[in-house]
Amino acid sequence: ALVSMKDMLNKALKEGYAVGQFNINNLEWTQAILGAAEAEKSPVILGVSEGAARYMGGFKVVTAIVNSLIDEMKISVPVAIHLDHGSSFDKCKAAIDAGFSSVMIDASHDPFEENVRITKEVVAYAHERGVSVEAELGTVGGQEDDVIANGVIYADPAECKQLVDRTGIDCLAPALGSVHGPYKGEPNLGFKEMEEICKTAGVPLVLHGGTGIPTEQIKKSISLGTAKINVNTENQIEFTKAARAALAADAEVYDPRKFLTPGRDAIKATVIGKIREFGSSNKA
Ligand code: G3H
Ligand code: ZN
Repeated sequence: ALVSMKDMLNKALKEGYAVGQFNINNLEWTQAILGAAEAEKSPVILGVSEGAARYMGGFKVVTAIVNSLIDEMKISVPVAIHLDHGSSFDKCKAAIDAGFSSVMIDASHDPFEENVRITKEVVAYAHERGVSVEAELGTVGGQEDDVIANGVIYADPAECKQLVDRTGIDCLAPALGSVHGPYKGEPNLGFKEMEEICKTAGVPLVLHGGTGIPTEQIKKSISLGTAKINVNTENQIEFTKAARAALAADAEVYDPRKFLTPGRDAIKATVIGKIREFGSSNKA
């Protein structure tokens, strides 16, 4: 069933696990992630970047694929379709109008007061329609599609509390040293700030850049208030590895299903592993 992230994440925070956001790119990605969540009886968030939505043909194509698969695959676990790193009110509105059940407004690069103003506008439009909202403070490092960072800036706990109080967002992504794409060496996450922000702001926290974070740091993040973890790059790596192996094993292959199927299976296995690591199995 299609739902917002609100109840999903509040339950996760209360019970001490995290729900995975897995980004989708196409039909195979969506099938693999929905299949993994159903197999694990886990709630799941399908993340859609603006670039991925463009690639798939638009927000309406995304919701048509997801809703049809929920129906045809008889998916019974809670599923949210979430705009990842929404860049403006207009993009968030377009996603909501197309049937997304959740959006992220990422005005983290703007001055604080501007971030508050835009986020508030998105919350007003979204909440009236039962759609949840995630916002961001600080800077996640690395690059994901159109989101390119210059260095890493840690979120300020006092600003986090203000942003939550003044906007009414459902969850917050405070950048605390995580990076989009692979890490250079071990991540250096700001656990002290994470704990303080969750206590003072009082909403579930989101950890971006989930690829490459060691299990102990994942567990620690969850114990300090992280209730949503975003993973994208790891599925891309595993899909491509499996597709490349299938292509390399048979120089004559031309049926796309012969190499897309191993790629899809690799994503499903990866997502099942993440769901178990995040502790959301049997929490649907
Ligand atoms: O917004 C999406 C995530 O933050 C993905 O990060 O590609 O490093 O797993 P990742
Ligand atoms: Zn992100």
